Amino acid sequence: MARVFVLNGVNLGTLGTRSPEVYGTMTLDDIERLVAQKFPDVDLEFRQTDFEGEMVGFIREAADSDGLIINAGAWTHYSYALHDALEAVDVPKVEVHISNVHRREGWRRESVISPSVDVVIAGMGVRGYVAAVGYVLEATGS
Ligand code: DQA
Repeated sequence: MARVFVLNGVNLGTLGTRSPEVYGTMTLDDIERLVAQKFPDVDLEFRQTDFEGEMVGFIREAADSDGLIINAGAWTHYSYALHDALEAVDVPKVEVHISNVHRREGWRRESVISPSVDVVIAGMGVRGYVAAVGYVLEATGS
């Protein structure tokens, strides 16, 4: 059974009530259920943290897995620590953004973590997580 990490960073624990016009009304638990329903045969490690160091630990843990999906929230735009942590992990890696970050404020257009991942998905809403797991499974031949 493939083991896939789905990591959510800062402020993503407030999905459901946070700017629903941008992020929709699903909570992180709803998203976890959605992904689990689509991939019942995948062992999902679904995690969220508001602490950057804890996220670095999650990324390191994913080194033993079949793939890693990360929505780093605002860390995306300035965390070289997450860039370096991701770079050091050699599994299929997908960066997900629920919103189309290119259609928003200028500072959201830059991602300092993108050079460390294989795929970037933005603007698909929560379906981006499903697409990301699909990519990881294909990449690992699962
Ligand atoms: C986000 C986009 C980021 O710019 C923002 O800081 C988030 C969420 C997204 O999923 O669209 O927290 O990563």
